[in-house]
Amino acid sequence: MLAGGSGTRLYPTSLAVSKQLIPVYDKPTIYYPLSTLMLAGIRDILVISSPADLPQFRRLLGDGSSLGLNLDYAQQDRPNGLAEAFLIGSEHIGSDSVALVLGDNIFHGPGFSALLQETARDVDGCVLFGYIVTDPQRYGVGEVNPEGRLVSIEEKPNVPKSNRAITGLYFYDNDVVDIAKNIRPSARGELEITDVNLTYLAEDRARLVDLGRGFTWLDTGTPESLLTASQYVQVLESRQHVRIACIEEIALHMGYIDADACHRLGARLAGSEYGKYVQEVASGWPG
Ligand code: DAU
Repeated sequence: MLAGGSGTRLYPTSLAVSKQLIPVYDKPTIYYPLSTLMLAGIRDILVISSPADLPQFRRLLGDGSSLGLNLDYAQQDRPNGLAEAFLIGSEHIGSDSVALVLGDNIFHGPGFSALLQETARDVDGCVLFGYIVTDPQRYGVGEVNPEGRLVSIEEKPNVPKSNRAITGLYFYDNDVVDIAKNIRPSARGELEITDVNLTYLAEDRARLVDLGRGFTWLDTGTPESLLTASQYVQVLESRQHVRIACIEEIALHMGYIDADACHRLGARLAGSEYGKYVQEVASGWPG
């Protein structure tokens, strides 16, 4: 999980605090991408952030054992690009396949956990997730042919070939470590994830899965998108009486912890409505 970067588009808010620790409504932003990994069945997680911000992530999440996770931390000295995650994390990855999620990406929609678990089970090449947006020039953009196969990927093109953004969640087989070692920095001086994905595409080993109708993908990189994300979460949570990206609930639901452990986690947070919800979940809510 990559939670570094300088967050300049959120200045001055992100001057003294990491943007992935800023709340989206009732919880820190990083809870959302962490939930995504947990729902995929991933329990060995490396949190990568800047030297200044890493201690706060540690303070928030610890070693993960209370959630049934194994969390490690690694430093990215400078925001040298998303693909540097595979160089920093190469030891952590070992000979396994790996998922990368960006610390400011929020995914929410029906059938998402099943899709994630199916994707994570058997990764051959890379799996990318597409989402239709109105402002594709802000993102990596994927173009598919009439048969639905991915044919091109461009990073923040001035003239996008489609309106299908490539979201900040990526699954790779173990070749990604060598591929990342061999790419060169882009014109903006970064090791681009798009160049990694293009290498897979050139070998015909890149698959794009569309997050379809009814699905919500949000990134929280600007004040507007952060507010939109908070409003989205607030409306859904207050109407549906369930919380999105409640990591304690997900740990219970995935069988990573039992109800007693979940209750204890809730008790620590009982001063907030979030904490009360965790306790209710441990006691069997919503039935
Ligand atoms: O959000 C999806 C988009 O993420 C993709 O569509 C693009 O292809 C991909 O390049 C990326 O674009 P962004 O412009 O959103 O990347 P940004 O530089 O904002 O970084 C995304 C997150 O990763 C952000 O939370 C900061 C963090 N980051 C970024 C860099 C460059 C790091 O932790 N380290 C880094 O070196």
